Amino acid sequence: MYNFVFQNTTKIYFGENQLCRLGEEVKQYGTRVLLTYGGGSIKKIGHYDKVMEELNKAGLTVFELSGIEPNPRHTTVNKGAEICKKENIDVLLAVGGGSTIDCTKVISAAAFYDGDGWDLVTRKAPITKALPVVTILTLSATGSEMNATAVISNLDTNEKLGIHHPLFLPKVSFLDPTNTYSVSPYQTACGAVDIMSHVFDVFYFTAGKKMDLVDRFMENVLKTVIKYAPLALKEPENYEARANLMWASSWALNRFLETGVSQVASCHAMEHELSAFYDITHGLGLAILTPRWMKYILDESTAPQFKKFGVNVFGIDESLSDMEGAKRAIEVLSDFFFKTLGLQSTLTAIGIDDKNFKLMAKKACKGDVLKGYKHLTPQDVENIFRMCL
Ligand code: NZQ
Ligand code: ZN
Repeated sequence: MYNFVFQNTTKIYFGENQLCRLGEEVKQYGTRVLLTYGGGSIKKIGHYDKVMEELNKAGLTVFELSGIEPNPRHTTVNKGAEICKKENIDVLLAVGGGSTIDCTKVISAAAFYDGDGWDLVTRKAPITKALPVVTILTLSATGSEMNATAVISNLDTNEKLGIHHPLFLPKVSFLDPTNTYSVSPYQTACGAVDIMSHVFDVFYFTAGKKMDLVDRFMENVLKTVIKYAPLALKEPENYEARANLMWASSWALNRFLETGVSQVASCHAMEHELSAFYDITHGLGLAILTPRWMKYILDESTAPQFKKFGVNVFGIDESLSDMEGAKRAIEVLSDFFFKTLGLQSTLTAIGIDDKNFKLMAKKACKGDVLKGYKHLTPQDVENIFRMCL
């Protein structure tokens, strides 16, 4: 168990009918606002009009950056930074899922950098200053609404990189579960997998010693997703289901679960290569990879924790041996991803072959080993990609 520092200062407005507070919250950071959003879902669901009404009521001057892509591009970061510089923007308001929020975070820093925003992501240039970011979340998945991480893609170099900076922590986030009623079954399922993967990948499956409190909390996050994701698929407008998924998303990756452990997220590192090369949905890549990764690293040392997960989270038979229990847990998890949530189960099914596996594996390991629950060499990573075909 490591010492840790925990600080999370994002102010959360959770629940329905809280948008009336948007104007006053944004206004405390200035009057010139850059509203950022994706491909138009916020207009389709009528949310755009409501947001504009509140901003106008508060007398704010609003500029817009639309069209932020899923797996947001560095070129869009540059577009946003240009608007910030030209229009003297004071504060950014991101309305969307993780992609919109992540892109907006990097824009907030690129606004003070005279060069390609990609330099900030690669750490070629340091982040020294950032504009304040306020968010309105519309998709439960990444935790970006309450963390200081951003993930940006560069399609020219086939790179998708994460960057953390304390200045990226949103000042305020509005979490209204009704804003996620319109999320498609596919994106709901991918979001659910992402939340679960944040628990597995970064914290639950770790060789280090954790606090029992945190372990129990992680199991509850997983159980919450397992209970409510299928309900949200069946009844998209079930408030309780959407609310539970939304709060689970924030708490799975707001650093609380990281307290006392330290680890690289193996499946995330491998998935970011899939997204970087093939622009696939993050949660889908994680769903395909995770059970294979578990099988690959299953041995005497990892079996007890996999079995414990199966028993405490999925309620599998406690009397099974560690190895039998671990195998059963992996099976039940696969069924949840591919049968209950209905996601595609192989890379072949989504049109990905082995052409780039070697290069992707090398990149995932950054030329060394991918540290995690079990350290993985580039050959190991390539083997795992092959298991996904
Ligand atoms: O672009 P729009 O029109 O908004 O449509 C989006 C997009 O097509 C749509 N959507 C969002 N809210 C909706 C909606 N459709 C209908 N109704 C709504 N209410 O959903 C699609 C996917 O949106 P996106 O923002 O890409 O999804 P997500 O929130 O899963 O974000 C994924 C990105 O976040 C990164 C991923 O790698 C990926 O780039 N991650 C960010 C992390 C972080 N910041 O901490 C950690 C994660 O592990 C992850 O890597
Ligand atoms: Zn993730």
